[in-house]
Amino acid sequence: LRGRSLSVTSLSGLPRWEVEELPVEELLLFEVAWEVTNRVGGIYTVIQTKAKTTADEWGDNYFLIGPYFEHNMKTQVEQCEPVNDAVRRAVDAMNKHGCQVHFGRWLIEGSPYVVLFDIGYSAWNLDRWKGDLWEACSVGIPYHDREANDMLIFGSLTAWFLKEFNIDKEAGERQIYHRYCMERASVHCAHVFTTVSEITAIEAEHMLKRKPDVVTPNGLNVKKFSAVHEFQNLHAMYKARIQDFVRGHFYGHLDFDLEKTLFLFIAGRYEFSNKGADIFLESLSRLNFLLRMHKSDVTVVVFFIMPAKTNNFNVETLKGQAVRKQLWDIAHSVKEKFGKKLYDALLRGEIPDMNNILDRDDLTIMKRAIFSTQRQSLPPVTTHNMIDDSTDPILSTIRRIGLFNNRTDRVKVILHPEFLSSTSPLLPMDYEEFVRGCHLGVFPSYYEPWGYTPAECTVMGIPSVTTNLSGFGCFMQEHVADPTAYGIYIVDRRFRSPDDSCNQLTQFLYGFCKQSRRQRIIQRNRTERLSDLLDWRYLSRYYQHARHLTLSRAFPDKFHVELTSPPTTEGFKYPRPSSVPPSPSGSQASSPQSSDVEDEVEDERYDEEKEAERDRLNIKSPFALSHV
Ligand code: UDP
Ligand code: G6P
Repeated sequence: LRGRSLSVTSLSGLPRWEVEELPVEELLLFEVAWEVTNRVGGIYTVIQTKAKTTADEWGDNYFLIGPYFEHNMKTQVEQCEPVNDAVRRAVDAMNKHGCQVHFGRWLIEGSPYVVLFDIGYSAWNLDRWKGDLWEACSVGIPYHDREANDMLIFGSLTAWFLKEFNIDKEAGERQIYHRYCMERASVHCAHVFTTVSEITAIEAEHMLKRKPDVVTPNGLNVKKFSAVHEFQNLHAMYKARIQDFVRGHFYGHLDFDLEKTLFLFIAGRYEFSNKGADIFLESLSRLNFLLRMHKSDVTVVVFFIMPAKTNNFNVETLKGQAVRKQLWDIAHSVKEKFGKKLYDALLRGEIPDMNNILDRDDLTIMKRAIFSTQRQSLPPVTTHNMIDDSTDPILSTIRRIGLFNNRTDRVKVILHPEFLSSTSPLLPMDYEEFVRGCHLGVFPSYYEPWGYTPAECTVMGIPSVTTNLSGFGCFMQEHVADPTAYGIYIVDRRFRSPDDSCNQLTQFLYGFCKQSRRQRIIQRNRTERLSDLLDWRYLSRYYQHARHLTLSRAFPDKFHVELTSPPTTEGFKYPRPSSVPPSPSGSQASSPQSSDVEDEVEDERYDEEKEAERDRLNIKSPFALSHV
């Protein structure tokens, strides 16, 4: 590296980071992933959110390579011609040789260029590429393994594309291995090997026999509101929307107080055990028992947002929302009539006779409406007709533990087997809006390389449960002195038995239910304060470091090694919030101080702002804290 301008970034008190700029105008950066423009899960979020900071650094020399799907192209990509000569030549050459390569700008923040390969169009090469793979590393792919076949085509096309730049042939080919063999081999081929988290680093060391050079945690693009407490207002606003849905869903059974109802949720890919839906359901059954035994007036409504095969919404669920709407309309029209009579009376200088202000018709309509809220069945535990209803793991567990939304249950469950969307006729909310409206995200994963869902909760100021088997959980454990105080509950799934983990989760949930509104507000403020830690503007430095390291290893004569020391922020920890009394025992001591007073929002905002300011001052000298 030649000594170039020094760029120094700092983010509200987080450690400063100094980096030598790369001569990016002389380099090209390709980022390759199956989820480029293709929303499958968390990887899509990594790539899509990280694009901006990378594009800021690399400008038009940054390209993402992914698979072409017509729908994704139509909705997310603006087609254009490559300006870079080498890229245009490579695209043209491949198109001339029987491939279909699309090029354009991905319409996301940073609007990076994308190169997309039509996989089906090149499938006729499959046998040849399988042969090459066999020759190179003796790995055979069976014809029925569609995913592996698609990956082989995608990998081969990527290697072909990169070869058009005279990129080392071997390196290109060695990225094509079947499953485990592919992964292990590529890890050992890479100049620099990174993993997303400490937990995957441990996995890689054992399974792939290589310790990663750099851990590159996943970030988010954190949007700061000009009003510090805007996220609290958004919580109240979106909670009201969820309450409305619940009014409809539980029509005829609304004998619980919505002001004392907490909304919990789990969301993501439907991997029952990996995502910890199993242990969550078991804990809910125990929580239900505890709340009933202690005669708690708190009700917990739990949403499972996990996509499964369905035949649309079920009738009972749709009916619930229709009944609610009907009651709303009736209340509205009676109110209008009532208002008009009241107004006329006042104009005449009279106070109306309250006994006659509703006529017989109004009363009849209202009585009929109340009759329509009677129901023979319990409020449904799922919103959709499930195709595999009898074998579905969530429904089967609900049947086994008997959480059927009975009146006596303090824990109610709703499986929404589809990702959320603002165009849904049932619960018209985006996922982000829904998260903001909830009280707690619960992600007790058993296998989770990173886990965006709790990170997303954090930046929105919503507390969450995670585990020490998830990348996010490990990251928080490492960087936050007292995660529970900040609303990050980390279940130990690594060193405890499943039953002990389940008990710990139950205690977290029960403790959460016992908090007052004031405590929840304070906790949300603390949670939100961690967002800077998850911001790409902070975390992209690990990728920068990885890139420097790669170049210095690949081209040692051109790129010096002095700049390859790891980011100096390692060991930095967010201090315990100043109002929390220091205590060796975890969760109870860390909860926000208790108060019987509800709704003193302005007061605690003031207190919290003072606390936040104190903490900011503390964090300003991170290096003093960095090796405690
Ligand atoms: N998600 C979504 N809509 C939903 C529920 C979830 O877009 O209704 C997204 C969520 O925002 C997150 C991703 O799904 O970014 C899940 O990522 P995570 O890392 O938690 O799990 P993975 O899919 O990688 O296993
Ligand atoms: C936010 C709002 C408050 C509201 C509170 C409800 O903080 O700004 O006005 O009282 O949310 O909190 P809860 O945890 O009961 O949903």
